[in-house]
Amino acid sequence: LPTEQARFSSLTLRRAHDSLADDVRLGLTAADKWLPCKYFYDPRGMALYERICELPEYYLTRTETAILKHHAADIIALAPAPLSLVELGSGSSAKIRYLIEACLARQAGLVYYAIDISPGALDNGVRPLLQEYLDLRIVELVGEFTDGLGYLAREPGGPRLVAFLGSTIGNFTEGEITSFLAMLRRVLRPQDCFLLGFDLIKDTGVLEAAYDDAEGVTARFNLNILARLNHELDADFDLTAFAHRATVNVERSRVEMHLVSRRAQRVRIGRLGLDVRFRAGETIHTENCHKFSTAGMETLLARHGWQVLRRFLDPQEQFCLVLAS
Ligand code: TRP
Repeated sequence: LPTEQARFSSLTLRRAHDSLADDVRLGLTAADKWLPCKYFYDPRGMALYERICELPEYYLTRTETAILKHHAADIIALAPAPLSLVELGSGSSAKIRYLIEACLARQAGLVYYAIDISPGALDNGVRPLLQEYLDLRIVELVGEFTDGLGYLAREPGGPRLVAFLGSTIGNFTEGEITSFLAMLRRVLRPQDCFLLGFDLIKDTGVLEAAYDDAEGVTARFNLNILARLNHELDADFDLTAFAHRATVNVERSRVEMHLVSRRAQRVRIGRLGLDVRFRAGETIHTENCHKFSTAGMETLLARHGWQVLRRFLDPQEQFCLVLAS
């Protein structure tokens, strides 16, 4: 049998830091300062995000994993065979295991494409999958979702199930959702399926706790983006001079993540030759986490040519997975 190494390959399409300098200049010189959320996911950010997923307040991962565990066979039964799996933003690859198992229960071998902005799938939980499933091959594609999907569009092969889990779609703006769904439809072939996981609108208190946990892991995750600018762009952010803030915006159905400047200050970003001034209380907007209704999301999908085959929810209706073709 091929060894684990022989069943794993990694291809770098584009690295996140290629555009970091330009994006930071754009975001921190804007009237309302902001930073793109993809820069959260450096190795330390990845590790912190893994911890967020295990927090008692952060119901999303636990709930989505339970839905997958319960319904993986139903999901795969609705997709054509033999299938290959594609995961956008694979992170630790913990959830995909249930889909892998369901595929291998009905077909001989399987290729799993893990697309992630952060390299290191092999170090992030994929190795045990290779040890457990001897008929599994894994291709890691390091880059942005659009680059990964563009690469797959040019690759021959049978039908695919593209999984986009973790409510990452909620981190897109409305415009980004629109162009993402349109791009996905262009890139996928008629036989392919799309499995989308998204968080549902719910009580404000539950949301606030999920994004501002008692242990302060989410705060460290948010602040880590400044540490990254210190390392990679030779900036001198004082991390104690900024505070994590998560606020629920009911009108726009989202949790907004900010870093609040605790005082008036000036930060030097060496590699950009840039000084950035902050007023006391001024914020850097780092992320939005949109929440949806099932009807709202299904309307969006339909508008972009996706036909919903089935939806899967947990008993408390906190989180939703939709399978579309
Ligand atoms: N997709 C995750 C979410 O929307 C990302 C996330 C979780 C996140 N916790 C966060 C992003 C804290 C920024 C800050 O829930």
